[in-house]
Amino acid sequence: MEDWSHCLDVAVQIALRAGQVVQSAVKQEKQVSSKSTPTDLVTETDHQVEELIISTLREKYPTHRFIGEESSAAGVKCELTDDPTWIIDPIDGTCNFVHSFPMVAVSIGFAVRKELELGVIYHCFDGTLYTARKGHGAFCNGVRLQVSKEKDVSKALILTEIGAKRDPATLDIFLGNMKKLLSAPTHGVRIIGSSTLALCHIASGAAEAYYQYGLHCWDIAAAAVIIREAGGHVMDTTGGPLDLMSRRVVAAGTREIADCVVKQLQPINYGRDDTD
Ligand code: IPD
Repeated sequence: MEDWSHCLDVAVQIALRAGQVVQSAVKQEKQVSSKSTPTDLVTETDHQVEELIISTLREKYPTHRFIGEESSAAGVKCELTDDPTWIIDPIDGTCNFVHSFPMVAVSIGFAVRKELELGVIYHCFDGTLYTARKGHGAFCNGVRLQVSKEKDVSKALILTEIGAKRDPATLDIFLGNMKKLLSAPTHGVRIIGSSTLALCHIASGAAEAYYQYGLHCWDIAAAAVIIREAGGHVMDTTGGPLDLMSRRVVAAGTREIADCVVKQLQPINYGRDDTD
């Protein structure tokens, strides 16, 4: 088995540098535009940070491939092959970043032969660094992470995100799913505006489960390694294996809670990352 520890060290250094760029940009005036929908935002900092991350990694690893949120938005094919591939979200929580709402992260995942090998997520506002490498545990600022062991959904705190579609039919399903989970019952449902940081809260045991339709492979890649290495489960919304390109996910500390969440969900079709 190949040792990708050097890639983790490099990813950490780049995430910290990228995080500094985001931290100083948050205080400046932003150039905001929209992508797939009026609520799918992008700023010049998203582009600048993605360029910084990809060019630095490409210099170190010229044979590796890259999937990046902004490159994909610009038309670069989003394709996961067997080659070593970096999967990058330069600013997760762009809407939060635009408003200086303090939930913004840099996310760097890495896959080989389509298997997720490592993940680094840097919380740009509070400086928290989440890291994991397959088979070697997950850490927050160097302290080992452990998911919640709660099995009773009535004692669960559930996290989700809204996604970019706001048409009435989508919102009805979104709100219906939330209503079902609130009345399951559960302790509550939270939305923080950053899929990757929400997923990190599953890894740290601060919440029991996460579900979403409409996120992307760059929102899931790094976080999936971190959750699994913290002892948790990451899967498709049907309960089957995770499909990184499917734009849907359920993650939980225990299989029991994941199964309860899966049972409540009505699907929202967002298409796939590798065909759109
Ligand atoms: C988005 C955020 C948002 C979630 C979207 C993501 P971005 O990422 O995580 O909370 O609802 O599905 O794509 O666009 O800020 O990188």
